[in-house]
Amino acid sequence: MEPVMSDLGRREAIQRRFWDRVYDRFALWYDGVDWFTGNAAHRLRRRVLAHLPAPGSRVLEIGFGTGRLHVELAPRYRVAGVDLAYGMARLTARRLASRGMIPVLCVANANALPWPAATFDAVCSTFFFSAVADAGRALDEMVRVTRPGGRVLIVDAGEALDGNQVAHMLARAWETLGDYMRDERPLMAARGLAVERHDYGPWSAVHITIGTVPTRAEDWDAPALGVATSAAG
Ligand SMILES: C[S@@+](CC[C@H](N)C(=O)[O-])C[C@H]1O[C@@H](n2cnc3c(N)ncnc32)[C@H](O)[C@@H]1O
Repeated sequence: MEPVMSDLGRREAIQRRFWDRVYDRFALWYDGVDWFTGNAAHRLRRRVLAHLPAPGSRVLEIGFGTGRLHVELAPRYRVAGVDLAYGMARLTARRLASRGMIPVLCVANANALPWPAATFDAVCSTFFFSAVADAGRALDEMVRVTRPGGRVLIVDAGEALDGNQVAHMLARAWETLGDYMRDERPLMAARGLAVERHDYGPWSAVHITIGTVPTRAEDWDAPALGVATSAAG
């Protein structure tokens, strides 16, 4: 008898067999989401800009996708990007080049980032974290390449802190499509980061989680630093 595939296994299969191909071969199609939503998706993603460090800082964007955010980061920061899909990297490279910017993009798995420890002042991602099966490993890597005192910023969809049912239904729908709906706070706190989270967007169904990497070596031993939350951002 065939073993029953767990729900997590089912979602990983959808990510690998469907979404990876979509991101690679139909990058332009994915870009249509912004057009279709009247740029609403882009406004949600741009929330990350308010929490980045000073202009000129070193910023890594993980899972940059079609590069809509990346082209806004590039003029302000010393920015690099990583994505698993060649199709996305091609599109984003073209987007940067057409604006006279030199792409620093890398096609690689976020589970094994090709940079030494503490390379960046901030590492950010938008709607990427819900696409990875092994979130712990990806987050370990995000933290590793962020300098002490630097920030890890994750924008993604999920359950709302106020527990509203619409956000709950949306989260179930995303799971059906293969995504992993997470609260990133415990994952970050378990790695010794000081964490805050803000919910926003329609039905508070999107949130930004901001983790600050400790500056003092002894803080790394603290299992969970303060966890601040707000239901509206
Ligand atoms: C849902 S799209 C989000 C794209 C963009 N950041 C946005 O805000 O629309 C997820 C992106 O993450 C990339 N991705 C998925 N798994 C990845 C992994 N393990 N390592 C690097 N990139 C990955 C995909 O190729 C895709 O471009």
